[in-house]
Amino acid sequence: QVQAQKEIILKNFNVEINFVAIANSSHMILDQLISDSAIASLIAKDESCQASNVESTIDYLATTPANLKVLIDCTASDHIPDLYSSCFESGISVITANKKGLSGPLSRYKDIMRSATDNKQTFLYETTAGAALPFIKSIKDLIISGDQIEEIEGVFSGTLSYLFNSYNGSVPFSKIVTDARNQGYTEPDPRDDLSGMDVARKLVILARELGLMIEVNNVEIENLVNEAHRDLSIESYLKEIVNDDAAIEDKLNQAIKDNKVLRYVAQLDHNGKASVKLDTLNNDHPFSELVGTENIIKFKTKRYSEYPLVHKGPGAGPEVTASGIFGDLFTLFNIH
Ligand SMILES: NC(=O)c1ccc[n+]([C@@H]2O[C@H](COP(=O)([O-])OP(=O)(O)OC[C@H]3O[C@@H](n4cnc5c(N)ncnc54)[C@H](OP(=O)(O)O)[C@@H]3O)[C@@H](O)[C@H]2O)c1
Repeated sequence: QVQAQKEIILKNFNVEINFVAIANSSHMILDQLISDSAIASLIAKDESCQASNVESTIDYLATTPANLKVLIDCTASDHIPDLYSSCFESGISVITANKKGLSGPLSRYKDIMRSATDNKQTFLYETTAGAALPFIKSIKDLIISGDQIEEIEGVFSGTLSYLFNSYNGSVPFSKIVTDARNQGYTEPDPRDDLSGMDVARKLVILARELGLMIEVNNVEIENLVNEAHRDLSIESYLKEIVNDDAAIEDKLNQAIKDNKVLRYVAQLDHNGKASVKLDTLNNDHPFSELVGTENIIKFKTKRYSEYPLVHKGPGAGPEVTASGIFGDLFTLFNIH
């Protein structure tokens, strides 16, 4: 997306964007002007690339002459957030889609935030919850304008949204999960989605944005994976998953009988009480109208009390997530 818009951004805003370092887990390219063919070599992981090393990438970026430098972390690595502070100390801002630094140990979160402030660098992370939907921006705007957020509620997992939007009893839940996995809608191990941990991490990020310094283990999490299946290999789990159908079918049948739907819902109140769980909602509830991988967030605030502030739309997928990162990049240009 950035490559495609480069000329327009240069013409309209007089900002020239150059990639000087690009890496995946095994290969990297450091070059003052990375071309499309170099990017293709990286994707192909061919021999023209060097062995990947994030520390070298940051060192290279630090010595590159530019008015504004930014590291964009599109990994789920637990190690890279440990390096954000060294980026800030080297005059490099950080944009991340990676939830680990923001939802992991509170001490690390505080160190990252303090380092960004102390070194006067920008740290942006809109896509860590809701992809390009303005979850984080809304919280920042509400707080800075003096509103008080009383409650946040939503469906924050594109995968769980898809699974429960699709599940109407005509096909067993296990088949919806395995079909979704085959289409790449779930993580390779669907238990990473069904455990609720990804949603809990997003809720922790939003809570901390509100100033509620909670940890993931403060979130009440309903794990949808049968306890007996949590330690199995992926292959064994995918064979066993049919044995979980009866339990979820009972919940669905009861919901249908009561004119309700099942949705995996995250909730947070202003005291930091946080939960992620499978909820049974009325047919006319706004969360019942979700389709596909849509996410939704509902803010109940002092100003938005009678009618909540709601954002809804696709909350996952490479294109929308990349556009969210692009949005953060643009925010960075506007700040500086
Ligand atoms: N996809 C979405 O819809 C979405 C939405 C919002 C946020 N996110 C977040 O964005 C991040 C990436 O998600 P994704 O779906 O794009 O995952 P993905 O397809 O697995 O891509 C992750 C990329 O990171 C690279 N990588 C991993 N460790 C690295 C390291 N130490 N150094 C350099 N590169 C490394 C991987 O390299 P290899 O190719 O060599 O493995 C891969 O290219 C995750 O944190 C995810 O939670 C994703």
